[in-house]
Amino acid sequence: MKLFVDTGDTEEVRRAADWGILDGVTTNPTLIAKSGKGFKETVVKICELVPEGEISAEVVATDYDTMLKEAHEIASWHPNIVVKVPLIESGIKLVRTLTDEEIKTNVTLVFTVSQALLAAKAGATFISNFVGRVDDMSDDGMAAVADTVAMVDTFGFESEVLVASVRHPLHVVQAVQAGAHIATMPIKVMEMLFKHPLTDSGLTRFLSDWNNAGLSIF
Ligand code: G3P
Repeated sequence: MKLFVDTGDTEEVRRAADWGILDGVTTNPTLIAKSGKGFKETVVKICELVPEGEISAEVVATDYDTMLKEAHEIASWHPNIVVKVPLIESGIKLVRTLTDEEIKTNVTLVFTVSQALLAAKAGATFISNFVGRVDDMSDDGMAAVADTVAMVDTFGFESEVLVASVRHPLHVVQAVQAGAHIATMPIKVMEMLFKHPLTDSGLTRFLSDWNNAGLSIF
């Protein structure tokens, strides 16, 4: 499964990239606004920090003609950019156009398998199923992920299922169990994936036994 970090903060991207396991980055207008820096400047910097990565950057217009202009502008910034498009009528029309132009797309704000079907039919590269925001509504956000993975597999769509709005490591575990292709998460969640008390206590014991024995490798 691919791992993406969900942020507009280039220092967080640098740290995640440094672990050597990062496959990409997702941004959104809220995260870019939070970064306090320019959109193009931030996205291009992120592309430089993750040279092999798939970097999602979102259009902000809602009418087709302006979205198309924005999409072409954003896609021109770097070959690794994936144009992020909201699941609205003009958005699906845009994804169809960009697919025909071989521009990668990430359809965002997807909450149901029926929305995911529209994105897959339009040729979306990634379908971003939001789980945390559904859980916040006392519902099970991962259910739509499982349905979307089953739909993509059953009908042979090319789209990859991206689990977004991840709140905690269990969402990543459930994404793996659902057979999702990608999970994007805040860096604090990615940090937690490393953690287990038995790993810490096991390493402490190994090192104390080794040191007590006065051994060395060199
Ligand atoms: O970037 C898309 C998504 O992951 C944001 O979700 O709910 O954390 O704002 P949220």
